[in-house]
Amino acid sequence: MQAAVNTISDRISLISVSSTMKVSADAEKLRAEGVDVVDFGAGEPDFPTPDNIKQAAIRALEQNFTKYTAAGGTAELKKAVCERHAADFGTDYKPSECLITVGGKHVIFNLIQALVNPGDEVVIPVPYWVTYKDVVNYAGGKCVFVDTDEAAGFTLTAAMIEPSLTDRTKLVIINSPSNPSGAVLDREEFEKIFKLTSARGIFLMTDECYCKFLYDSEPFSIASLPGAKESVLVAGSLSKTYAMTGWRIGFGLVPQALVNAMTKLQSHSTSNPASISQKAAVEALRGPQDSVKVMLAEYHKRRDFVVQRLRSIPGVKCAEPAGAFYAYPNLGVVLGKNGIDSTLVLADRLLQESHVAVVPGEAFGTDKQVRISYATSMSELERGLDRIHQFVVKYA
Ligand SMILES: Cc1ncc(COP(=O)(O)O)c(C=O)c1O
Repeated sequence: MQAAVNTISDRISLISVSSTMKVSADAEKLRAEGVDVVDFGAGEPDFPTPDNIKQAAIRALEQNFTKYTAAGGTAELKKAVCERHAADFGTDYKPSECLITVGGKHVIFNLIQALVNPGDEVVIPVPYWVTYKDVVNYAGGKCVFVDTDEAAGFTLTAAMIEPSLTDRTKLVIINSPSNPSGAVLDREEFEKIFKLTSARGIFLMTDECYCKFLYDSEPFSIASLPGAKESVLVAGSLSKTYAMTGWRIGFGLVPQALVNAMTKLQSHSTSNPASISQKAAVEALRGPQDSVKVMLAEYHKRRDFVVQRLRSIPGVKCAEPAGAFYAYPNLGVVLGKNGIDSTLVLADRLLQESHVAVVPGEAFGTDKQVRISYATSMSELERGLDRIHQFVVKYA
């Protein structure tokens, strides 16, 4: 009998365990041992799902809407997605250009598997959300990383992207606001990037997961530009916007041929997203939108507090995030000291010694930062930032 490890496919060895999920698991383990952990690792809203959305799910259950739906989602939800996107951003997608998925991660997975051939290049700005790299690797594609500058708040420009485009480039991935840096891509620069990609027949994926959480500018979708629908691929999620991480609803707004390809893949893997979640999602998109504003106002307050508090720690720099709910401080001041030779070690020592969970910058392609999620209460932020302060003062 062969050892099980030798039978695992080569494809799986191309990907690694999601670091954000690993941090949550490590923090959970300590908590189970009775340790008082402050968790800045989880990238999910601390707000409950709004009541009108929960009520819609209850109604779905009562009406026995509990069976399979079409693999790519219900016609009702596709229509609601297109209408919401049109109302918010002025786009004109048809339901045939929409696919409903099991969360935003799933739409990105399906999209990249349906699009990327072995050897195709995919341009990914750094710092990047962990999943892009692994999903591209899984498809046999080649990640081409584009550095941004911390001093400029990790903002991206078209001039940074242009030199990385080759005749092998299939896709450019933009995530604005960014997880992990919170950087927001300036609208003019986004338009310039679109011009670069569309002129070369390159697809431009816009991950709009945090599109409603902007502090200093108005929400905007690059898909609203004339002619954008041919090459812009919208990856959307209800997880953060409506505090629905556990419901697992995401969507794609993409050319119909790609919808068909992605639906085919989905039909052989997950089939449809949960029927009950789809009904709840219709209510999220069509019902009152006030809860999004309430969350944004709260994140704004926390953003200001977290940045000011981090900057008050001697030697710590922190770019001001313009969106999402993450801060990405530079803790380089403790690196190379007392055995802390990487942010992986730093995050582990912070967890084991100070009982604060953060995600190491290595997970996002940088080597001096850690990610702090401020989707947690002010009192937890105060406690956790005090602990980080003491840790840095001790080891710097
Ligand atoms: C940038 C980004 N895109 C997509 C997702 C996917 O979210 P979900 O699969 O929970 O809808 C996340 C989740 O953390 C994210 O941070």
